[in-house]
Amino acid sequence: MCGIIGIIGKAPVTPLLVDALKRLEYRGYDSSGVATLVNGHIERRRAEGKLVNLEARLAQAPLPGIIGIGHTRWATHGKPSERNAHPIATDRVAIVHNGIIENFQELKDELTAEGRRFDSDTDTEVVAQLLTSYLERQMSPEEAIAKAMDRLRGAFALVALFGGRHDLLIGARRGSSLAVGYGDGEMYIGTDALALAPFTSRVSYLEDDDWAVLKADGCAVYQGTKPVERPIKKSGLSGALMGKGNHQHFMLKEIHEQPAVIGDTLHSYLDPATRSVRMPAMPVDWSKVSRVTMTACGTAFYACMVAKYWFEKLARLPVEIEVASEFRYREPPLPEGGVCIAVSQSGETVDTLEALRYAKNQKQTLLSVVNVPESAIARLSNAVLLTRAGPEIGVASTKAFTTQLVVLLAAAISAGLARGTLSRADEERLALAMIELPARINETLNMEEDYRRIAENTLAGARDVLYLGRGASYPVALEGALKLKELSYIHAEGYAGGEMKHGPIALIDDAVPVVVVAPTDAIFDKIASNFEQVRARGGKLVLLSDKAGVARLGAKAETSIALPDIDPVVAPILYTVAVQLLAYYTALAKGTDIDQPRNLAKSVTVE
Ligand code: G6P
Repeated sequence: MCGIIGIIGKAPVTPLLVDALKRLEYRGYDSSGVATLVNGHIERRRAEGKLVNLEARLAQAPLPGIIGIGHTRWATHGKPSERNAHPIATDRVAIVHNGIIENFQELKDELTAEGRRFDSDTDTEVVAQLLTSYLERQMSPEEAIAKAMDRLRGAFALVALFGGRHDLLIGARRGSSLAVGYGDGEMYIGTDALALAPFTSRVSYLEDDDWAVLKADGCAVYQGTKPVERPIKKSGLSGALMGKGNHQHFMLKEIHEQPAVIGDTLHSYLDPATRSVRMPAMPVDWSKVSRVTMTACGTAFYACMVAKYWFEKLARLPVEIEVASEFRYREPPLPEGGVCIAVSQSGETVDTLEALRYAKNQKQTLLSVVNVPESAIARLSNAVLLTRAGPEIGVASTKAFTTQLVVLLAAAISAGLARGTLSRADEERLALAMIELPARINETLNMEEDYRRIAENTLAGARDVLYLGRGASYPVALEGALKLKELSYIHAEGYAGGEMKHGPIALIDDAVPVVVVAPTDAIFDKIASNFEQVRARGGKLVLLSDKAGVARLGAKAETSIALPDIDPVVAPILYTVAVQLLAYYTALAKGTDIDQPRNLAKSVTVE
């Protein structure tokens, strides 16, 4: 989604705005822009495409000014173009916006009838025009924003810059996130603490329906006309975290960070000395829970799919999973005393947030597995299970997913212990398998060249690729296919191995690589049969298994990789790293934009 930033500075702010936009570009990257006040007048520079285009524009036509706003866009209304790039402005006010104004047509009709002319195709422009209409009726900026908040429907975060007001920025949020940063005689407002990290670590988070008046010496926050307090917190984020290190892409860096961040996450949920699970206090007595509902979007949904296997197998607890965008509108009946778990890297995906709200209305206990502690999903939840992935910048999720799996496995083990379906010996065995994960993942990363070879020789030239898995490897197959299509634009589908014969088998010929995710587990023989069915039809098999699996099937595959031996329970985490590497190196071979794939966005704050 869009990233927004506003700064009241002491020196020219354009370089700082662009610097913040670089940290926000992962959210959306189809156009960008900045606006400042020059001699009291709103001046803008905007450009279609990546931020480098805006930088080039600014190099040609620098933009002075010590107060300003900036934006990087993921288009919702109006195609990506300079004309639709934010800031959207009139002569009185400039706006940057993340989200959707759902009643924009109604407002646009009203404002057009007043004689106002629209210059863009965006929903955002109704905010600029509405505020201008209020300002022209002699309202103050504060009165205009408060009144506009009553008229706007939808989910949004906004920051407004006013002509002639070198001392003032106003931000407002409903649904989408917005954080205020406190500097020394300087003030900042932006989408998240990450955007503000190099400027200040003193941050307050706005709540839904807040609007905040920033002046150089501080910030006053209101709900309606009532002043409210939002505590200033110390953000642990550092701007230094944002580099790619020695890696060519953020995604590769984040793939390589997995041993470390899984180690950090394990540290929060396991005691290695006693090999026992150590969960934070939770408002859930697992022994009394009759059913768990899990919901999420995208890659996070596949984490729910894996967790369903774990909760059902280890804790004998029925789990219903559904993608959040369907769940929230299906209006499913949920059992009294039920638990709903939302999984989200960003904690701000609007479909997941709304699904959780639905569960709240159904009186479920809400747990969330999130990577951003101050996020909306975290704040709505009764208990938060944090992943310790650190900021994830690559648009395609990697380390967030594997740390989600670690947290969910720890939760499933703790549920199993509470329900008496796991013994202390089981706990020790499972904890040990988890503790070994960072080392096994390191071994997998050391075999990177093997993945590169398969990517270059077998996958990069394909038009379609199938991924097969069974049991908890089935969601890994889905994730492998998702990663490949997101990054390389090759059409890829994941299937449950047993389901292949009911349709997808028709696609198999010698031009279709089939990646089989097959650790030797209790159902290895079953996936081995599916492997043979592909082979019989001339499919090009890529086998991901362990030594025993490769010894058994490797000679029949076009190519294979023996992953380190590992307890089958944690195999989905290890095998995920393998499918990430395949997707990464395929995209690298194809020369696609790995960190910012076309049309995608990192956090999706619209429906
Ligand atoms: C977007 C991202 C995906 C992510 C999904 C859910 O589609 O591109 O990588 O899995 O949103 O995001 P969340 O922040 O809720 O995990």
